[in-house]
Amino acid sequence: MTQPWMNTALSADERADLLVAQLTLDEMISLVHGPMPALCNPPPEDAAMGAGYIPGVPRLGIPPLNETDASLGIANPRRVRAGDGATGLPSGLALASSWDIDLAYEAGAMVGSEARDKGFNVLLGGGANLTREPRCGRNFEYLGEDPLLAGKLAGAGIKGAQSNQIVCTLKHFALNDQETCRHVVDARIDEAALRESDLLAFQIAIEDGDPGSIMCAYNKVNGEWAGENEFLLTQVLKKDWGYRGWVMSDWGAVHSTAKAVMAGLDQESGEQLDKQVYFGASLKVAIEDGEVPFERLSDMVQRILRSLFHHGVFDAPTERRETDYAANGEVALKAAEHGIVLLKNQNSVLPLSRKVRRIAVIGGHADQGVLSGGGSSQVIPVGVPGLELEVGGVAGAFVKVTYHPSSPLRAMEAEAPQTQFMFNDGSDPAAAADLARNCDLAIVFATQWATEAEDLPSLNLPDDQDALIASIASVNTKTIVVLETGTPVVMPWLDQVAGVLQAWYSGTRGGEAISRVLFGEVNPSGRLPISFPCSVEDLVRPEIPGLIFGPPIEGQTLPTTRPDVQQHKGRFSVDHPEGADIGYRWHDRQGSKPLFPFGFGLSYTDFAYSALTLTGGETITAKFEVTNTGARQGVETAQVYARVAGGSRLIGWARVSLKAGESRQVTVTADPRLLATYDVGVPGWRIDPSPMEVTLGPNAQQMSLSGSVLLTGTLIAP
Ligand code: BGC
Repeated sequence: MTQPWMNTALSADERADLLVAQLTLDEMISLVHGPMPALCNPPPEDAAMGAGYIPGVPRLGIPPLNETDASLGIANPRRVRAGDGATGLPSGLALASSWDIDLAYEAGAMVGSEARDKGFNVLLGGGANLTREPRCGRNFEYLGEDPLLAGKLAGAGIKGAQSNQIVCTLKHFALNDQETCRHVVDARIDEAALRESDLLAFQIAIEDGDPGSIMCAYNKVNGEWAGENEFLLTQVLKKDWGYRGWVMSDWGAVHSTAKAVMAGLDQESGEQLDKQVYFGASLKVAIEDGEVPFERLSDMVQRILRSLFHHGVFDAPTERRETDYAANGEVALKAAEHGIVLLKNQNSVLPLSRKVRRIAVIGGHADQGVLSGGGSSQVIPVGVPGLELEVGGVAGAFVKVTYHPSSPLRAMEAEAPQTQFMFNDGSDPAAAADLARNCDLAIVFATQWATEAEDLPSLNLPDDQDALIASIASVNTKTIVVLETGTPVVMPWLDQVAGVLQAWYSGTRGGEAISRVLFGEVNPSGRLPISFPCSVEDLVRPEIPGLIFGPPIEGQTLPTTRPDVQQHKGRFSVDHPEGADIGYRWHDRQGSKPLFPFGFGLSYTDFAYSALTLTGGETITAKFEVTNTGARQGVETAQVYARVAGGSRLIGWARVSLKAGESRQVTVTADPRLLATYDVGVPGWRIDPSPMEVTLGPNAQQMSLSGSVLLTGTLIAP
């Protein structure tokens, strides 16, 4: 065999080692840095035109790395691939609301297949950053506030994506929990708390998903840039967790050559956004001068090639194919349907009867489509977008508020042909109220656009929509609010309305999914993966640190819409006194009641729990029965929580589909790390030999059954 590394009988490591031995120094250097192809003039011929590109080595058969953002579908934020749309999944928070691991796999597999169709072999995303800041502009890309839920879903998504023989990247490692000042902020946190929260989410996602690469974050963590943070990249990731893939930088997140390389960063991405190309000529000099040992460069390249072999990129090169958008749209529809959360349903106003004569549909451009979130994850709809609105400011140069062309109004009209639907765009609240007064029922679509690079200034809906909803509710007692938001919002009008549906950003087929839930074709089964606070006073940080506006800095090129933050470079830190107590755990610690708790969601049927038995020992196993006590099929997500170190933690769940009257016994076994505290002295996870209280119920605040169980003292490696 002329290329012995193509022998599939060898392990990925053996194949990578054989290939590394063939590379010249220049070839090795060329594999550890690369540009945004769209900013190259001319763009590389073999670039698929995504966010990133690393040239291959044709003489040895090493393919170029064609990288695309893919948190919610194959992104095309700046439309560098003119006219190229893709299937848009609902937002990460919607997917997380499903608590459905199989669905996360299916969604990942679908996105991975579209990536192959478009010639991409490296996906950039999704992310497993936990929601520490409910106003964070990227919450919609992530999977909520719990390490187990986020880790499990991210892992399944990665596994699904990589089933297409491509590499998937998990991002942003770690603590990129606010977009404000993301290029300068130093997130400070205690190590044990970090291990028990954000790092645990990544750890679980890596164990379950085996991602070929990890992307570092922009921010600093405890004083060091995430991309030159030896503790994170080498100690935790590569040593403690034994991670064998490569670490790529975020775009514009590299600040040095030798320091970053020696800390464990393996590849510089989107290099035009860095102050200089750190991993090109400068790295070569550092190797030649002995500042960086040659072995480290070999390791960097070995990690990249190993992942490519391990995940099949060499053996199954991508070839452009037609995409089956109809089939993929079905996956997006299912994900949207599973992710919609019914928050309020007074007097069973929902599901809607098809006999209602006149329904007022107000606002949210519901006649044109469903909203999506902005930034690098932006999926451009296939065909004609529902609607595109210009954004002001720096963001406006490359972002538009984009609606997927799946109109809830049109879907409802098709669903209930006997009903008269009257649309009002909500821009004139008096006219909208006049319409609502004369209808049997009113549905208000409320939207909140969120984007990467900015946080939301408030937990309230923007553009006076709170007042609009209140005025509609004051004239029609049967007012239902459909929320298309990127993140939780407060609801000053909650007591006045009859129903609330949290539809998040619902993707390519979102309008149909919303309509099918409203009319009861689908029984809502979503459960919140994030607490809804009553007000900013419930948050760890009532004000977002660094939300300061100064004069823009000349010559600044970083992809932030708030360039003023550069002024604070290196001088701006955020403490995390909440530690591992994020979201529901913070509410628990503070004794504060959220508007809607983590895990909450209603159904058109009812469920009951019985026969809880608990087994202790090295971990906890809970066996119990769930019964559908109502009159129609439904899905319950039974959640098991334990009290660890004085606080409540989700330790497992079971998602059970039950026919009316049906019962099922289910078993949930905890990952023992969730029963432990992290002890930096050991170092490792420590479970004390003591009784532990366990509760079972439909959300973090409503406990149906409980018991206590004895644990054996155990130490678990980091
Ligand atoms: C984002 C990443 C993204 C990259 C490439 C960065 O600004 O933080 O999530 O993968 O751009 O588009």
